[in-house]
Amino acid sequence: MKIQIINGPNLNLLGVREKSIYGNSSFDTYLAELRQRYPAIQIEYYQSNVEGELINKLHEIGFSFDGVVMNAGAYTHTSVAIADAIAAINTPVIEVHISNVYKREEFRHHSMLAASCRGVIAGFGLDSYRLGLESFLNS
Ligand code: DQA
Repeated sequence: MKIQIINGPNLNLLGVREKSIYGNSSFDTYLAELRQRYPAIQIEYYQSNVEGELINKLHEIGFSFDGVVMNAGAYTHTSVAIADAIAAINTPVIEVHISNVYKREEFRHHSMLAASCRGVIAGFGLDSYRLGLESFLNS
């Protein structure tokens, strides 16, 4: 099984950025734990701060991978183009968020992407990514 994790803007700063919201761990540290926990799954990782690059990655892997776990960061709330890319590919996408976006500012309550995704997971810290990944194991 091949799973692609995609992180959008500012998520390269995990462990540094707003720690009270996003925690102390870098994504690299978390990713190593995740790979250790699921040795039979090929887990690829991509991060970009650039909207078009996120779309290019979805196009690149979206016809061959089994699943995508995507945290599009703030583009979640704004990007019709990423929503269209998710709708265009064959690989199902789970939208994930580290924080509980519904507890936060109102502009974070709406996702442009959710309707094109298989499901949405929010508010479990970095564990949101594991929960997203596990959903592919059970489907
Ligand atoms: C986030 C929530 C978004 O609203 C925010 O812009 C992010 C991170 C999360 O993981 O909680 O960058 O997607």
